[in-house]
Amino acid sequence: MSDSVAQLGYLGFEVSDLEAWVLLCERVLGFEVARNEGGFSCRYDSYAQRLFFSEGPADDLIAVGWEVASPEELDGLVARLAEQGVETRAGSEVEARARRVTRLVSLRDPTGNPLELFVGPEQSQTPFVSRYSAGGFVAEEQGLGHVVVNTRDNREHERFYCDVLGLNVTDHIEFEAGKHHIDLTFLHANQRHHSVAFGGPLKKSIHHFGIQLADFDDLGRLVDRAARRGVKIATPMGRHPNDKMVTVYLESPSGFEIEIGWGGVTITEGWEPTTYDRLSLWGHWSGQA
Ligand SMILES: [Fe+2]
Repeated sequence: MSDSVAQLGYLGFEVSDLEAWVLLCERVLGFEVARNEGGFSCRYDSYAQRLFFSEGPADDLIAVGWEVASPEELDGLVARLAEQGVETRAGSEVEARARRVTRLVSLRDPTGNPLELFVGPEQSQTPFVSRYSAGGFVAEEQGLGHVVVNTRDNREHERFYCDVLGLNVTDHIEFEAGKHHIDLTFLHANQRHHSVAFGGPLKKSIHHFGIQLADFDDLGRLVDRAARRGVKIATPMGRHPNDKMVTVYLESPSGFEIEIGWGGVTITEGWEPTTYDRLSLWGHWSGQA
């Protein structure tokens, strides 16, 4: 497809307990934190900002920023959105400055999740060096990680994200869990196995966002720091069958989760979507086993 998003570039959140989030981001996750008026931002690769937080009652996602390679491609996407009847709004200079990008447009996905398309992310003048995770994070052109968003209709979402924004289906996970039918869709925008996933209605716009460490020991050390700082493990270590990533889920102070992963597969030439019949190859026991 000609015009498409290149990567998941940033996530913005409104959170009620700013200080708990600063502690989590700085001391547990090992990001570089910069405070600003009304909130703070985090970086963990060459991008000046990957996550931003402002104080407020929502405790939810307020922006999912998708980077587009060029202003021309952004214009192409805005035109395609208009053809599909999706309203877009040009972001203000104040909004662009807060996101540290040159230009953005905002829109809603079919479920109402707050999306933004942007160009020109600011790059940091200094290389990222983690105080805690010597191996650093897997990000850069693969984007910040992934986000799992609310959806009322998986097929409608798949059509929107693929046919309009230009992502591609990576795979699905579908199985029966007691009385529940689990049906998850994973989409990629670049080499990262998935940049966005969805699997049904949620109370918030987000179920979790996921980040990836380059070094397995850094994952273990991060879990140690979470234990020392009283951050609860939502789901202990396990390996997903589709991306093959070893992950742990932490509880965030805002009622959604953060998945920390290591390893896993990347998208290769000629990738064919498959459907898996379980959520984990091993582990991820949540106590209901
Ligand atoms: Fe995930």
